[in-house]
Amino acid sequence: MREIRFDRFGGPEVLTLHSDAAVPAPAPDEVLVQVAFAGLNPLDFKIRDGSSGRATDLELPAGTGREMSGVVIGAGSGLDEAELGSRGLTVGTRVFGMRSTDDRRGVAAEVIAISADDLAPIPGEIPEENLPRWAGLSLVGLTAIATVRDTAGIEEGETVLIHGGAGGVGQLLIPMALEAGAKTVLATGRSANSERIRELGATPISYDERDWTAEVQRLTDGRGVDVVLDTHYHSTFLPSLDQLAGGGRIVALPSLADLSPALQRGIEARIPTIVPGRDRLDRLAQGIRAGRYPLEVSEVLPLGEIAQAHRRLEEGHTRGKLVLDVRA
Ligand SMILES: NC(=O)c1ccc[n+]([C@@H]2O[C@H](COP(=O)([O-])OP(=O)(O)OC[C@H]3O[C@@H](n4cnc5c(N)ncnc54)[C@H](OP(=O)(O)O)[C@@H]3O)[C@@H](O)[C@H]2O)c1
Repeated sequence: MREIRFDRFGGPEVLTLHSDAAVPAPAPDEVLVQVAFAGLNPLDFKIRDGSSGRATDLELPAGTGREMSGVVIGAGSGLDEAELGSRGLTVGTRVFGMRSTDDRRGVAAEVIAISADDLAPIPGEIPEENLPRWAGLSLVGLTAIATVRDTAGIEEGETVLIHGGAGGVGQLLIPMALEAGAKTVLATGRSANSERIRELGATPISYDERDWTAEVQRLTDGRGVDVVLDTHYHSTFLPSLDQLAGGGRIVALPSLADLSPALQRGIEARIPTIVPGRDRLDRLAQGIRAGRYPLEVSEVLPLGEIAQAHRRLEEGHTRGKLVLDVRA
């Protein structure tokens, strides 16, 4: 089967398409999935270039990618038909999911073995053209739940500022912050993404056209915001500390973000940690089906163009999700 692997840390060119990879054998608690699409995330290039904490001790050569959609084609010895049925994962079921943190294997391969706990069925009949969105849903979706529900503690009536509102995580943070009770959601992005941010329910702030800090002050009548959800971090974290109203708090998304400038000022600052779980995947699925989480896939590239996809991802201006077509 075809699979993407890399045998050293480095630039996108280390990603190599192999067409002679062995089909994996599922462990007793694993399901065998024929992958249709694989979602891409900044974490993928941080692991590939060795900068992520998750790259430490990674055995090379390694696979790449964390999330996907596909079809169940088999299962390990511990999952008989009744067990698969009770989980809604019988052979032939369309599924989506992501590898848990401690599972270092990739998903950019035609067939993968993955824990049944890390998968959920795609509910109902969906048109073929919607499959890429499901591939890109789990990682950003579980991150958005961890950010909004577990970490930010948004309360009814609060004002929230989201940096990177049109990015993969940002496109789910906006509807989830509103669901959590935010009265107003402001979201930064390039002017080209203003309309998208507005469609998602936030007030866009075009950081490439105006001073976003002045705009936050203007839109909040000088009060500032209660919560900042910062998916960008690099140039936004420090100035955001001055945009917080009294008692305000900030959540930075990059796992290696330095929170100390906030903590030294007595500002509550946290980094979210993904909590896996079938209940959360099912919640995401319901949100997609109901139209509450209209996550956008901006580009689908063939598996063999993964290096180009990583270059695009590293530019840091992905709109919604980039997805690989593993069958192409
Ligand atoms: N802690 C965790 O468990 C966890 C989980 C998932 C992701 N993450 C991290 O969260 C971050 C975001 O992930 P993602 O998947 O959403 O990335 P993404 O899809 O690449 O989106 C990044 C967004 O940042 C925006 N951006 C770029 N420069 C900006 C600036 N100067 N000001 C405001 N926005 C700016 C871009 O929008 P424009 O094009 O409009 O500029 C883009 O939409 C990454 O660092 C990722 O590693 C952490």
